[in-house]
Amino acid sequence: MKLKLLLMIPALLSGFAFAGGTPEFVALPEGYNKQINYMSQNRIGQEQFAKMYARQNLLQAIADGNPVPEGSTIVMEVYEPKRDRDNNVIKGSGGSYLIDHKKAIAVMEYRNEWPAAMPANERAGNWGFALYGTDGKPKANDLDCAACHWQLRRVNYLFTTVPMKNHIASSH
Ligand code: HEC
Repeated sequence: MKLKLLLMIPALLSGFAFAGGTPEFVALPEGYNKQINYMSQNRIGQEQFAKMYARQNLLQAIADGNPVPEGSTIVMEVYEPKRDRDNNVIKGSGGSYLIDHKKAIAVMEYRNEWPAAMPANERAGNWGFALYGTDGKPKANDLDCAACHWQLRRVNYLFTTVPMKNHIASSH
């Protein structure tokens, strides 16, 4: 009994401290892949490929320097690249990694107000976070999403402001 409890502690701790976002508040947006795929490129500092999806009104607001619209979502599909026999990542023309399989789906959601039960330290500004598996179920992970994105507070806590602006500029 005692041993069992002790064994459970790491699992409990990781569940509380390192859930990697709050999927109980931030849902996987239905049909997100019908939204605008404003960027597809190798991830920064990681041997993975990412595809980003958002709605037109968010991209336009960022391009115009307007406030983020209530209810905005951004989805980042994360892909593992193909590797050769020596485990090196295989690149296609232009340097993009060739996709092997989808690994996870990261979500950000913007609300002017969140329920009081949503921990403030799980947010970056008004953005909430969650990570999902390819089965659409919350994915366990040890990332502190808010801490990393908080560093981008001067640009709406977003890493991909420039690709958003470029998308709007190129669609005119
Ligand atoms: C180590 C820092 C770091 C952590 C931790 C982190 N991110 Fe990010 N995030 C980034 C970077 C850098 C990008 C730009 C794309 C890339 O190269 O990965 C990004 C991009 C994103 C985007 C696309 C919107 C944007 O900001 O450009 C979403 C959505 C996102 N992250 C969700 C999450 C979620 C959900 C978590 C937690 C499970 C998380 N992130 C944890 C660094 C981080």
